Amino acid sequence: MFEKFRKPKKGPVAISEEEIVKGPIPNHIAIIMDGNGRWAKKRSLPRTAGHHEGMKVVKKVTKLASRLGVKTLTVYAFSTENWKRPEDEVNYLLKLPQEFMGTFLPELIEENVRVRIMGDKDAIPAHTQKAVDKAVNDTKNNTGLVLNFALNYGGRAEILDAVNHIVTDFREGNLQKKVDEDLFSGYLMSAGLQDPDLLIRTSGEIRLSNFMLWQLAYTEFWFTDVLWPDFKEQHLLEAIYGFQKRGRRFGGI
Ligand code: FPP
Repeated sequence: MFEKFRKPKKGPVAISEEEIVKGPIPNHIAIIMDGNGRWAKKRSLPRTAGHHEGMKVVKKVTKLASRLGVKTLTVYAFSTENWKRPEDEVNYLLKLPQEFMGTFLPELIEENVRVRIMGDKDAIPAHTQKAVDKAVNDTKNNTGLVLNFALNYGGRAEILDAVNHIVTDFREGNLQKKVDEDLFSGYLMSAGLQDPDLLIRTSGEIRLSNFMLWQLAYTEFWFTDVLWPDFKEQHLLEAIYGFQKRGRRFGGI
């Protein structure tokens, strides 16, 4: 029954950037970058090698998304559940943002990309926080693509956090209005961003894994068997091409 969510059986659609920009480009693309471990295992490499290769793919995808005029790209870099992994892997994953920013920040600035973070930043190591804060600060006046890192992020924690903030604001007399969808969205970590139009998950897994539970209510889902380190520009174009073929009704007819 999930087959219809998968890419068409005919195989990859060779679609060019020039062709894709003639159709609607999703304003916000969110990606669950899965399959790094399996990619490494297939090559008898440590899992961390898969994460490193995955980081390089984020660079390529960011550049293409920026060229295509995507407004926001959210990448699930570390979930609140990822702490359950072996300590070495956790440490490596939490060091990657530092390497990413260290090697890529000048290009991000040149590309007019604004970096943003959503997640519980306080629990991540100080060196990572520092690198991330610098990237956010150095790009804060950029007006192009927003590259939003979900880092130590969990959808349920985000919703609970919003509810608790609302309760506090209400108790302290700072909130008199009825809580509606817009107001609630403003309390989420994604405040100010549009909800994703397109969600991509790689590696053949078909689940949300606690990702943007509120924001994905009307998002189009695109699942592919490609492992994240193997994800190429062409796969992003293919996903957007699939998105352009969907009829979005938002509950209407
Ligand atoms: C899931 O693959 C992936 C992650 C838990 C981490 C994703 C992180 C990256 C792609 C690195 C990007 C980081 C930056 C800073 C740009 P998995 O390890 O669960 O793979 P598996 O299911 O094959 O084991």
